[in-house]
Amino acid sequence: MKTLHLKETDEDFDRGAEIIRDGGLVAFPTETVYGLGADALNPDAVLKIYRVKGRPADNPSIVHIADYEDIRELAAEVTEDMEILMKTFWPGPMTMIVPAKEIIPKVTTGGLDTVGIRMPRGASCRELVRRSGCPIAAPSANISGKPSPTEAQHVIDDFEGKIEAVIDGGPCQVGIESMVIDMTGSIPMILRPGILTRADFERALGKRILLDPTLNRKPDPEKAEHFRPKAPGQKYRHYAPKAPMIIFEGKDPEQVRGAMDAERLEREQLGQNVCVIDYEPGEERKAAKHFFARLREADREGVDVILAAALPENGVGFSVMNRMLKSAGFNIRKVD
Ligand code: TXA
Ligand code: MG
Repeated sequence: MKTLHLKETDEDFDRGAEIIRDGGLVAFPTETVYGLGADALNPDAVLKIYRVKGRPADNPSIVHIADYEDIRELAAEVTEDMEILMKTFWPGPMTMIVPAKEIIPKVTTGGLDTVGIRMPRGASCRELVRRSGCPIAAPSANISGKPSPTEAQHVIDDFEGKIEAVIDGGPCQVGIESMVIDMTGSIPMILRPGILTRADFERALGKRILLDPTLNRKPDPEKAEHFRPKAPGQKYRHYAPKAPMIIFEGKDPEQVRGAMDAERLEREQLGQNVCVIDYEPGEERKAAKHFFARLREADREGVDVILAAALPENGVGFSVMNRMLKSAGFNIRKVD
């Protein structure tokens, strides 16, 4: 198969929409990361996404829509809280888990009776939805387990010749995936943190919300019973670079940097190629934007090891650490 390289033009959106309508796969940019899209209501088309990504069948895909009203076709119920979140954060980096209507195939929902819905910012996805006339199921456009793609080239590296088309819209502005919030319980719960924070949601809803207690915790095989993240995707190994990665963490930033520097020097003297990822407190958004691209660059350069400084785990820092901890397989070096 030849993968078409499309741009964000009127003509190319039509071409992409036609492919979606015909049951093919089109990768497209969103403000968070690139998605790999298919007609969400066509089980054969969605199955192709799972095959090409190597994605476990029990990991549901987010369904993308173009307009607020589209949610009514897909959600069995739209509560007042959901309305508030939609109006406040859409179009934007928020996915709401809601009770699913039966028209959504089980392949799309990973067999669940709920569905994640998102209305992204940016033209590509919404134009594809509007022009194809169907909601679009799209996980991140990476081979399962690899870092999420934040540039069209990342998608090409993983899927050239394996998907019908990719739309190039330049680098993604946010760089980490949408926040996933479960609206099906009595109290909303964040299942995956993003660039929007818990505080943003509590302000919008005027009440406390929950955070999945397994987030940013190392899975303990002894306690497998207790480690059951509510978003199926959170249980899989993720975002993994080829090289081993070590996170340096401690109270004193100076000491942390000192320890990282010493480790780097020692390894360089041994002839190793070392990648250092070091963002200052206050640079959390920048870290979010560049983190995945940095991992892919390290892969390309064939580095021997990645050393990364932990960010303070609050606000956006918590969300970046959520990705960083998984990339490193929770390999943490305490510096005290
Ligand atoms: O920013 C994003 O969300 C990107 C862009 C393309 O929209 N998409 C994305 O999709 O990151 P994906 O498939 O890589 O991550 C979706 C996450 C997974 O952890 C999945 O388990 C969870 O959302 N999820 C989806 N539907 C769910 C459901 N019904 N219940 C619980 N978790 C769900
Ligand atoms: Mg993903």
